[in-house]
Amino acid sequence: MQNIPHIPVLYREVIDTFKDIESGIVIDCTMGYGGHSSMILESNPNIKLIAIDQDQTAIDFSTERLAAFGDRVSIKKGRFSSVIQDILREVDASEIKGVLADIGVSSLQLDQKDRGFSYESDNLDMRMDRDASLTAQTVVNEYSKKELETIILEYGELRNYKKIASEIVAKRPFSSAKELSDALKSDMPRGKKIHPATLLMQAIRIEVNDELGELKSLLSSLKNARLPDAKIAIISFHSLEDRIVKQAFASWSKSCICPQEAMRCTCGNDHQLGKILTKKPLMAKDDELKENVRSRSAKMRVFQMDLA
Ligand SMILES: C[S@@+](CC[C@H](N)C(=O)[O-])C[C@H]1O[C@@H](n2cnc3c(N)ncnc32)[C@H](O)[C@@H]1O
Repeated sequence: MQNIPHIPVLYREVIDTFKDIESGIVIDCTMGYGGHSSMILESNPNIKLIAIDQDQTAIDFSTERLAAFGDRVSIKKGRFSSVIQDILREVDASEIKGVLADIGVSSLQLDQKDRGFSYESDNLDMRMDRDASLTAQTVVNEYSKKELETIILEYGELRNYKKIASEIVAKRPFSSAKELSDALKSDMPRGKKIHPATLLMQAIRIEVNDELGELKSLLSSLKNARLPDAKIAIISFHSLEDRIVKQAFASWSKSCICPQEAMRCTCGNDHQLGKILTKKPLMAKDDELKENVRSRSAKMRVFQMDLA
């Protein structure tokens, strides 16, 4: 048995979401180390699973881990924004009964120092897909001060974003995340629970992997696919991501999409794709928080598409 390097977050909630599906396909857009994928397959023998990841290390690990499920599972490498479109072209929409995305990095990606995700890393990489062209090195050493300010404010939500961007520009080039986080230590907020450079690292990682663009594109493809009967479950770790999911699900649940100021409905009042199953996002309970600190900021929202 392989060592399992990543404890899946909100796994009971994920199992509950998909366990009663009678037949069809569930798509796991962020297979990672196959934790959610294997639990979904184990808890519901009636379904098949298509699992996506852009990281070759995750693909290699999970190909072995999920092999026991035979032809119930098929694994695809690539960004989920584009792979989902291929799947939607190849598979009948009525076959797809569930979609899961557990956005962000895995514990193994964070822990492997040569991947550059941690503030202790000895390089500046941060690509989930090592064949992608944009690296953290380019963002840190080549982006303009203005571009860095935008990223640090929007993706890191750091209040002194201007000062941090100025310091980066003044002190660069940097060759490792460790060098960067050491040089900026005094400019970082002093939180008790997280390392000072964590939010800066998060901001750079979101830019390198276009994480918000990927999420928006996935939601847009799912909306346009008009799946007749599918549960869409998205787990996010960042308030910006959660807001994107919340707003998308709210708009999918509306029948009338006329502007608020319209005097009467002219849209046809038939745009509702289904209903929100989680009025408030699901979050880890105490027992999970104790066994997995990563679950601290995880939020899961679920939408039931219902166009049958
Ligand atoms: C949080 S981990 C998922 C862990 C997984 N649920 C498990 O139980 O092992 C996120 C995974 O999704 C992958 N990933 C993130 N964004 C992606 C994207 N846009 N396209 C494809 N894979 C992505 C990462 O490479 C990483 O392996």
